[in-house]
Amino acid sequence: MNVRILKDEKAVARAVAARVIATLADRPAAVLGLPTGRTPIQLYAHLRAAYASGRVDFSKATTFNLDEFLGLAPDHPASYRAFMETHLFAHVNLSRRRIHFLNGVTSDPAAECVRYEKAIARAGGIDLQILGIGGNGHIGFNEPASGLLSDSHPARLEPGTRRSNADLFGGRVEAVPREALSMGVGTILRSKAVILVATGAGKADAIKATVQGLVTTRVPASLLQLHGAVEVVVDEAAAAGLVGR
Ligand code: GLP
Repeated sequence: MNVRILKDEKAVARAVAARVIATLADRPAAVLGLPTGRTPIQLYAHLRAAYASGRVDFSKATTFNLDEFLGLAPDHPASYRAFMETHLFAHVNLSRRRIHFLNGVTSDPAAECVRYEKAIARAGGIDLQILGIGGNGHIGFNEPASGLLSDSHPARLEPGTRRSNADLFGGRVEAVPREALSMGVGTILRSKAVILVATGAGKADAIKATVQGLVTTRVPASLLQLHGAVEVVVDEAAAAGLVGR
């Protein structure tokens, strides 16, 4: 994997924003895969600023978000959809009909996942998938497991993952849903290019295992080693565990 180590969180956000801006300049109708979480907040701030100053145009772009909590409607304040509205969608000229999300309040989660896979395929696949990473090596909501659910699927969340999402629920871990819908690792690996973003010391072990560890479903992000076009963009703190960097 191509690893880029930058000084700090700011430099990481700037570099990834530059990649998104360049992708859309080159291909205005690009299909973007987008993450939520603390990590991309500065990235989205850069993209909002770039849009406000006329440096990027989202009008022909399509987006697919990685995941959503099961049981939360799009307008629930803790939903990932609401997060995206706050940090990006409400501020840029993305066409509403080209914004795609897994529906957390579907009555048929399995069918909803099939619908999502079809929608991605119909859009021509994801050109650039941006990912964060969980402290346990999860991507999207693909948690460490003994096997792989390759396509989009309903997922049970680990206690640590629920804790790290508690901020969205006013710090109340018990309010974090136990289940979610997520793109699968296979969905992610079908993207033409992937950027994995990580910042801070809390991600150092996961980044080491992802980049220099065995390819294993115990560290879902390690499966990215199988993809030919993955760039890992990390700050010094998240890169601290890498040997020979
Ligand atoms: C969450 C999300 C992931 C995200 C990860 C890291 O649970 N489902 O898509 O990448 O955890 O989050 P953060 O950036 O807040 O550390």
